Amino acid sequence: MTQLSPEVERRLAAAKLRVEELRDRIRYHDYRYYVLDKPEISDAEYDALVRELESLEAQFPELVTPDSPTRQVGGRPSTLFAPVRHRAPMMSLDNAFSREELLAWARRVERAVGRFVDTVCEPKIDGLAVSLTYERGRFVRGATRGDGLVGEDVTANLLTLRSLPARLRDPDPPAVMEVRGEVYFPLSEFERQNSALGARGQRLFANPRNAAAGSLRQKEPAVTASRPLGLWCYGLGYLEGRGRATHSEDLDYLRRAGLPVNPEVRPAATLDEVFRRCAWWETHRHEVDYEIDGVVVKVDELALHDELGATSKAPRWAIAYKFPPEERTTRLMQIAVHTGRTGRVTPFAVLEPVHVGGVTVTTAGLHNEDEVRRKDVREGDIVVVRRAGEVIPEVVAPVPEKRSPDSRPWHFPEHCPSCGTRLVRAPGEADWRCPNRGGCRSQSLEWLFHYASSDAMDIDHLGYATGLQLLERGLVQDPADLYSLTAEQLAQLPGFRERSIANLLNAISGSKHRPLANLLVALGIPHVGGHVARVLAGAFPAIDRLRDASPDQLRSVEEIGPTIAEAISDWFRRPENRQLLEKLERAGVRTRESAPARAPEGPLAGRTVVITGTLEAMSREEAIRAAEGAGARVASSVSRRTDFVVVGAQPGSKADKARALGVETIDEREYLRRLGRLH
Ligand code: IVH
Repeated sequence: MTQLSPEVERRLAAAKLRVEELRDRIRYHDYRYYVLDKPEISDAEYDALVRELESLEAQFPELVTPDSPTRQVGGRPSTLFAPVRHRAPMMSLDNAFSREELLAWARRVERAVGRFVDTVCEPKIDGLAVSLTYERGRFVRGATRGDGLVGEDVTANLLTLRSLPARLRDPDPPAVMEVRGEVYFPLSEFERQNSALGARGQRLFANPRNAAAGSLRQKEPAVTASRPLGLWCYGLGYLEGRGRATHSEDLDYLRRAGLPVNPEVRPAATLDEVFRRCAWWETHRHEVDYEIDGVVVKVDELALHDELGATSKAPRWAIAYKFPPEERTTRLMQIAVHTGRTGRVTPFAVLEPVHVGGVTVTTAGLHNEDEVRRKDVREGDIVVVRRAGEVIPEVVAPVPEKRSPDSRPWHFPEHCPSCGTRLVRAPGEADWRCPNRGGCRSQSLEWLFHYASSDAMDIDHLGYATGLQLLERGLVQDPADLYSLTAEQLAQLPGFRERSIANLLNAISGSKHRPLANLLVALGIPHVGGHVARVLAGAFPAIDRLRDASPDQLRSVEEIGPTIAEAISDWFRRPENRQLLEKLERAGVRTRESAPARAPEGPLAGRTVVITGTLEAMSREEAIRAAEGAGARVASSVSRRTDFVVVGAQPGSKADKARALGVETIDEREYLRRLGRLH
């Protein structure tokens, strides 16, 4: 089994480089799109980048970071698809993660209505929500959910779905009707599509939900048409001129009108029946050809929907009962280890790929040596793997009956997988560490990457690939060396041209002026994350004051306990850390807080402004600076919190979105007037 190690290492390293490159590119295109309003690539190309990143993160969960664009994208409104305002908001559902939570929901309904009422139980399809507008029986528009109020127009793509009727089978159709449903990727087709993609050496879809979303948001309807998307309609968002009594009646009507309504929808008149239906789905969920992640329980009587009302996010008349984390078995091929930024060496399981919790999992974290021993997982074992929602997959336990008689307990490697140094485990500590600080490639790379991350010094264009090259060529040994890099040195790196060199040097130089809290995070002091760093920067607005503070002085700060105080003192006591700080200061990195921010003043004080399109009298940067100078905050995308949008020539979709949201739009002359520059 151990001979797999170099291969696994190679795959991981390759994935890491690619993940970083993708993140850099996605952030760059987000910047072009949101800040400059000048996208360089089409939405389909952008989606392809995000999809590839999602797929790699699903395969290598240890590469997932909280600041990855995959944690942020989703609601990105498209320039490609026109915005559509839904007639009624597309809400989400509250979740119940246990029988107790489901019971609590039922009790709330009982309390509000006076008795338990008839409900309907429906599978919760894990796909993409759509709203379908029919006018006088004709399908006129289909939209994605978007932010719930404004979605994207995907009419042409939806028309390629075989099960979606262009005309209703109703001789007397309603004037306007908005049907709500879920588009999904059939599981049988998903497997087939992915194995075909794999055979051609192309990128795979991470899960059926992504496959559905990616297929629907295609520039070319012909591409959507080539994907076998399915649809289940689960309700009405809006209906003009019809009296209806129950949700079941609505579903019957939709079915009769020729829309696809899931045949698995069942009435449940008692709480006991609801529980039975949920339990039934837990064991039968894999028998249908679409992914389901729970059961939606809905009050049937529509009059009660109004009576029960909704929170800002979800109706009170429905609840989504979510299944417990899914478990699957697979073979554990190898237990590998990785050396992190602090020298901590963590084991992880390399698994035969297994589809669990909606993604294909190939690795799972194993925390530390004791955890491996406690679970007694061994290389070659068949193991139970679990994944719940966004949570990183874990190995639950081995299946002892399936263990080969010659299997042996796993032993922690004696040497660092990156630099070969003998590992140490201090008495009382759970972790093995690589003591070769400064000389271990893996530690240095992780440290550089941490230093550049968005919570720390936020250096764009410095990903794993670039970091590795800088280290390998000896151009950088620690983060302070970044500030002495020259254009000539960067020109030696493969793939670096004038523009990328300028981008990186600008990003590095821009990082010198980050707030003190960011520097404190970047230094990697144990226990000092974003929040603690802000608390510390508030109490000690210069790094030398923090350095000179005694543990008692540190502990007198609210939220700073003895562990953190000791960790900080210890960090500043070490000569190598003091040297690093001096080096950073010499490089011109700001080590003190600038003057405290004053409340904004000026004609636009406290307003939130978005600027789109090209202005005549000033460049975009000037327009932004003018707004900020007038006390406004300039946002990159339109929301209901936007006060007004300045619309120049050839505006992007932000102008449409503003109109759809009812946000004020003004032209350049009016903008100049509000800035006080024109009367
Ligand atoms: S009803 C106002 N029924 O789940 C509530 N939603 O978390 C409207 N979903 O965005 C939702 N299957 O896309 C409903 N049978 C079903 C569903 C379902 C899947 C999705 C829907 C919604 C999300 C809510």
